[in-house]
Amino acid sequence: MGALNVAMIGYGFVGKAHSNAYAQVGHFFPHVPKVRRRVVCGRSRAGLEALADAWGWEEVETDWRRVIDRPDIDAVDICTPNYLHAEMAVAAARAGKMVLCEKPLANSLEEARAMVSAASRVPTFVWFNYRRVPAVELARRLIEEGRLGRIYQYRAQYLQQWGPDPSRPRSWKMSRSTAGSGVNGDLNSHLLDTAMMLLGPIRELSATFETILPEKPDPDRPGETYAIDIDDVVLVQARFRSGVLGTFEATRFATGYQNDNSFVVHGEKGMVEFHFEHMNRLEYADAGGDPDLRGTRRVLAPSPGPPADPYYWKPGHPIGYEHTFTSSLADFLAGLESGEPARPTFEDGLSVQRVLAAIEASAAKRGWLETGL
Ligand SMILES: NC(=O)c1ccc[n+]([C@@H]2O[C@H](COP(=O)([O-])OP(=O)(O)OC[C@H]3O[C@@H](n4cnc5c(N)ncnc54)[C@H](O)[C@@H]3O)[C@@H](O)[C@H]2O)c1
Repeated sequence: MGALNVAMIGYGFVGKAHSNAYAQVGHFFPHVPKVRRRVVCGRSRAGLEALADAWGWEEVETDWRRVIDRPDIDAVDICTPNYLHAEMAVAAARAGKMVLCEKPLANSLEEARAMVSAASRVPTFVWFNYRRVPAVELARRLIEEGRLGRIYQYRAQYLQQWGPDPSRPRSWKMSRSTAGSGVNGDLNSHLLDTAMMLLGPIRELSATFETILPEKPDPDRPGETYAIDIDDVVLVQARFRSGVLGTFEATRFATGYQNDNSFVVHGEKGMVEFHFEHMNRLEYADAGGDPDLRGTRRVLAPSPGPPADPYYWKPGHPIGYEHTFTSSLADFLAGLESGEPARPTFEDGLSVQRVLAAIEASAAKRGWLETGL
């Protein structure tokens, strides 16, 4: 196939990570289809021009609908706040474009369903980029190969600490109307996607939400506060369809942690433990062996794994956050050529959205609920 003409909408934090992935993917994955950074779209022309200059986008545009209508665009990549995902994705899919979208897929289950339905005939992708951390991929492989034996228990945590920070600018992430939820959609969605990739669908759950500071100091108006209508903390106990029990915790009030996306899998034959703050390592414990030497072993995770290239660098040379986006993009592009769609697709994003919705309903009801998965 020829080069894929991409339009990216939104050029904030994650737009930079995506821009880097588009720029790098052809260097590290020479055999996947080429991409052309055709147009970047946002609201401020000056900001767009600076980003386009820095990251090699050919054109800028301030009206996303004009981008979607362009016949020379093959794929639309949505990097905007959550409340805009559904409208943009549905419009892009209806215009026949492939659609890549940031997580969480949508602000609600209804929106996510509408996105899946509109995009049923075009390739889709959700940027749950932690799937492509080599240590996470290694954990997946060990579980799949039965090297942990029967899985007993799963534990996941996403810990950040910026919630109470009074100097933090007000952001779309702090309002239900723009973010859909607080940590549930923002952080827990990543935990749920990884968990279901590793252990299959989550069948039922019981959850609690907490808003620790219902009012926060307004950094733009000294002495004033603003009201918070989203969850600062979410705690979930869950049962996978396989019967395995799991717990999930996501918080922006975890003093001492900056971005620790972590999980532990306890099995009959062994254990694996992952922490994104040490993303190149997987802790492994063998349940057998010499009782005097029981403990965990630190494994330096080897490679992103197939279908991505075997290595960015030689084994033992750690990689970083940005590589997870480059590998994700390589997967998507390889999937276009092979006809085997790369995961996670919009369908996978919808599964996560079902669990997010069940968590919210369970927290409101204060009881166990089925997810429908
Ligand atoms: N996968 C990850 O690890 C990861 C990390 C951070 C953010 N995200 C997700 O990425 C998305 C964006 O988050 P962010 O942190 O980059 O936000 P951000 O606030 O830094 O950037 C948002 C961008 O959207 C643009 N935008 C807003 N309204 C627009 C409109 N009407 N038309 C066109 N552009 C518009 C803004 O100009 C800005 O460029 C969110 O869905 C978030 O959950 C994912």
